[in-house]
Amino acid sequence: MSLHDVVRDLLPRVLSDLGDLVAIESVSADRARASEVERSALAIVGLLVDAGCPDARVVRANGGAPAVIARFPAPAGMPTVCLYAHHDVQPEGDPVGWATPPFMATEVNGRLYGRGVSDDKGGFAVHLAALRAFGGKPPVGVTLFIEGEEEVGSTDLAQLLEENREDLAADVFVIADSDNWAVGQPAFTTSLRGLASCTVEVRTLDHGVHSGEYGGVVPDALTALCRLLATLHDDQGNVAIAGLATAPAPAMEYPPERLREESGLFDGVDWIGSGSFVERMWCKPAVSVIALDATPLDKASNTLIPVARAKISARIAPGEDAARALAAVITHLNDHAPWGAQVTVTEGETAAGSLIDFAGPYADAARAAFTEAWGREPVLIGQGGSIPMVADFGKAFPEATILITAVGDPDSRAHGANESLHLADFAAACLAETLMLNAFAHLDQRP
Ligand code: BES
Ligand code: MN
Ligand code: MN
Repeated sequence: MSLHDVVRDLLPRVLSDLGDLVAIESVSADRARASEVERSALAIVGLLVDAGCPDARVVRANGGAPAVIARFPAPAGMPTVCLYAHHDVQPEGDPVGWATPPFMATEVNGRLYGRGVSDDKGGFAVHLAALRAFGGKPPVGVTLFIEGEEEVGSTDLAQLLEENREDLAADVFVIADSDNWAVGQPAFTTSLRGLASCTVEVRTLDHGVHSGEYGGVVPDALTALCRLLATLHDDQGNVAIAGLATAPAPAMEYPPERLREESGLFDGVDWIGSGSFVERMWCKPAVSVIALDATPLDKASNTLIPVARAKISARIAPGEDAARALAAVITHLNDHAPWGAQVTVTEGETAAGSLIDFAGPYADAARAAFTEAWGREPVLIGQGGSIPMVADFGKAFPEATILITAVGDPDSRAHGANESLHLADFAAACLAETLMLNAFAHLDQRP
């Protein structure tokens, strides 16, 4: 039987296993569901042992979230490929926004819905499909590294890497955690933005006071915070923080009508920023206010409030130093305090972006395998999101080839309500990875 037929036949079971994983609420940001993250790691180990893996175990660093490392030792003379995904997911948010239950994988019109189906339990499912296609005896060495805290900034990753460096070393890293260019159009991601976040607190008053009594002379903290936040962009929506880098942009067009449709941006709402769309999304910094602490509406009273807080998340250019970028954001906030308000900034996460060279014999073999599986040549794209492990592993294994693949598409709504996986694309991704591993075993010479 050809690998095409083998993969086609094993898909139903892989999808049912994916459904079982989606049912585990492995939300790494929610302390109350830490046991679910543990359960999810154990479920991954179980699936890998069942797929014939002789060495699968849970690892953690600093007592942090459970990751899985599993190894199929390389047949003599064969390279080792490390397959990466993460088994933790984002919070589901308000269930009212979901058309199907978030933790129950549900098929509707050729898509599978559920939290984590594309980001990134689907990524693990692709690896599982490829391993099963070889009956648990892959033709190259395979290491799986399935992280359990990617969605909270991979805080213990550097330590985990240091403690398991030998087990994680590989000739090729396949990171199944990005998006394809479009449904039916495969892509390898060659640039990712980084991240720098912080919390800003603004205080203007020792205590809340009557807004009629003092309003007009005494500034409230929320208004002051709003003015501070308004300084983060110019009128056109470009980031106004001094000292943030921009990376060179590829000559690619993102059709604006597609972007409006995929993002759900209302007709009549303007785009922000300047430069080509891919430059704005992949190469330039972006700053968003992602949360606010202030008096909630149902507790509103005519009071000048003394304190307000916001969380600011900056996406930074690939190649930018994340610590330097965070320092630039903090300096900006401290320098723009309106009306002499007291501003205190607390550092949040940082993650470096990445620029990857898609070249060499493994990349060529991957391109050919993807072309065969998808019936279409893959394109090289950037992404505006971040995958912290890419920079860390790139630094630890500078000789290795890094290939960032995808199960999601621009309609997958990762992190949002109604996250989904396009099932035909998923099938193509499973076949592509299988053919790619096979091709790695048949390279003329090991590079
Ligand atoms: N899979 C995403 C990264 C991604 C998003 C790649 C969109 C390609 C397109 C990943 O799970 C993610 O969400 N990463 C976080 C990292 C952060 C916590 C450091 C992100 O980008 O917010
Ligand atoms: Mn992900
Ligand atoms: Mn994510």
